[in-house]
Amino acid sequence: MLCSLCGVLFYFVVFVGAVLVFFRFWIKTLANPCKSYTCMVGKTVIVTGANTGIGYYSALDFAKRGANVILACRNERKANEAKDSIIKKSGNPNISIKLVDFRSLKSIREFCADVNKTVEKIDVLLNNAGAAGLKPGLTEDGLDGVWQTNYFSPYLLTVLLVEKLKKSGPCRVVNVASIMGKLSNVSLETVNTCNESMVYSWTKQCNILFTRELAKRLKDTKVHVYALHPGAIYTDIWRHLPKWFLLVWIPMMKFIYKTAEEGAQTSIYCSVAKECENDSGKLYAECKEIEMYDSCKDMTFAEALWEKSADLVKLQEHERI
Ligand SMILES: NC(=O)c1ccc[n+]([C@@H]2O[C@H](COP(=O)([O-])OP(=O)(O)OC[C@H]3O[C@@H](n4cnc5c(N)ncnc54)[C@H](OP(=O)(O)O)[C@@H]3O)[C@@H](O)[C@H]2O)c1
Ligand SMILES: *[C@@H]1O[C@H](CO)[C@@H](O)[C@H](O)[C@H]1NC(C)=O
Ligand SMILES: *[C@@H]1O[C@H](CO)[C@@H](O)[C@H](O)[C@H]1NC(C)=O
Ligand SMILES: *[C@@H]1O[C@H](CO)[C@@H](O)[C@H](O)[C@H]1NC(C)=O
Ligand SMILES: *[C@@H]1O[C@H](CO)[C@@H](O)[C@H](O)[C@H]1NC(C)=O
Ligand SMILES: *[C@@H]1O[C@H](CO)[C@@H](O)[C@H](O)[C@H]1NC(C)=O
Repeated sequence: MLCSLCGVLFYFVVFVGAVLVFFRFWIKTLANPCKSYTCMVGKTVIVTGANTGIGYYSALDFAKRGANVILACRNERKANEAKDSIIKKSGNPNISIKLVDFRSLKSIREFCADVNKTVEKIDVLLNNAGAAGLKPGLTEDGLDGVWQTNYFSPYLLTVLLVEKLKKSGPCRVVNVASIMGKLSNVSLETVNTCNESMVYSWTKQCNILFTRELAKRLKDTKVHVYALHPGAIYTDIWRHLPKWFLLVWIPMMKFIYKTAEEGAQTSIYCSVAKECENDSGKLYAECKEIEMYDSCKDMTFAEALWEKSADLVKLQEHERI
C-alpha cells in the first residue's frame, strides 16, 4: 500500500520535472540574443519604465553603446537607483531621469512638453512601461487604470512627440506588446472596459494595432515603428499576483522563464539592429520578424481604434495626426 503510493509519487515528480525541463528548454534555451554591434554615441534614447525589468536592461544596453539615455519613470527613488546602477555598470555618465506617471494624462502631457523643449533629437522611443494583474478601477481621467497604463498613455505620449520624431528621422518607435494580444479579441465596445481576465490581453493587442496604424500614418516619414513580444520573463510584473501563488510560482519562473536581461533582447534588436532599419508596422519576437497575429490584421478596426483613442485621451484637433 505504502509502496504503491511511493510509486505514484515518484512518477508524478518525474512527470512534473520533465514538463518543467521541457518548458525551460523551450522558453529559455531557445531564446535568441541580439547580435547587433550598432554604436549609439551621440544618439538619444527614451525608455519608459526603465527602473526595473526588461526596461532597465534595455536602458543599460543602450548606455553600454554610448547613447544618451532618458529614463522615463514614475518613482524618483527607484529611478535614481537605476540611474546610478546603469552609470556604474556602463561607465556612461549620459543618463538622465524624467519623471512621468502613466496613470495621469496630465503627467504625460507635461513629460512631452518637457521632452519637446529640452531634447533636440529622439533616435529611439522605447514604449516599455506596462502593468499586469492590477484591479480594475478608474483613474482621475475617467479611464481604466490598466488601459491607461498599457495603452492610452503610450498612445498619447507617442502622438504628442510625433512632430519631434519626424524632425529626428531616421528614428524608431518601439512598442513592447505581448503574445497575449494574439489570443485577444478587443472591440470598440470593450475598449476601456474593466474586465479583469481580459484587460491585459486587450491592451497588448491594442499596442500592436497602434503600431500598424502609426506606421501607416507615418509611411512617408523616416519614423519607423515596431511591435514585439519579449517572451516569458521573470520580472516585477508578477508582483500583483496573490502571495500564496507567488510562493510556488516564483521558483518555477526562475527555472523556466527568461531573466530580465534575456527578455530585453528583442526590444534592443528593434531599437538598434541594422537589418530591420527600413521596416515599419511589423511584429518581432526572439530578435526576428514573426507573422502578424490574426487578431491584429484588421486595418479598418485599427483606424477606428485610433480615432476612439484620440477622443478618450482628449486630443485637440491640431494635435491629431
Ligand atoms: N514579464 C513578462 O513575461 C512579459 C511578457 C510579455 C510582455 N511584457 C511587457 O514588457 C513590458 C515591461 O514589463 P516587465 O516584465 O519588465 O515588468 P516590470 O518589471 O513590472 O516593469 C514595468 C515598468 O513599467 C513601469 N510602470 C508601471 N506602471 C507605471 C505607471 N503608472 N507610470 C509609469 N511607469 C509605470 C514600472 O514602474 P514601477 O517600478 O514604478 O512600478 C516598471 O518600470 C510591459 O509592457 C509588459 O507588458 C512582459
Ligand atoms: C556623452 O555625451 C557626449 C555628447 O553627446 C558625448 O560626446 C560623449 O562621448 C558621451 N559619453 C559617453 C561615455 O558615451
Ligand atoms: C513642441 O515645440 C514646438 C516648437 O517650440 C511647438 O510648436 C509645439 O507645439 C510643441 N509641441 C508640444 C507637444 O509641446
Ligand atoms: C472575436 O469576436 C468576433 C465578434 O464578436 C467574432 O466574430 C470572432 O470570431 C471572435 N474571434 C475570436 C478569436 O474569438
Ligand atoms: C470578461 O471576459 C470574459 C471572456 O470574454 C467573459 O467570459 C466574462 O463574462 C467577462 N466578464 C465581464 C464582467 O464582462
Ligand atoms: C535601407 O534603405 C537604405 C536606403 O534605401 C539602404 O541604403 C539600406 O541598405 C537599406 N537597409 C537594409 C538593411 O536593407
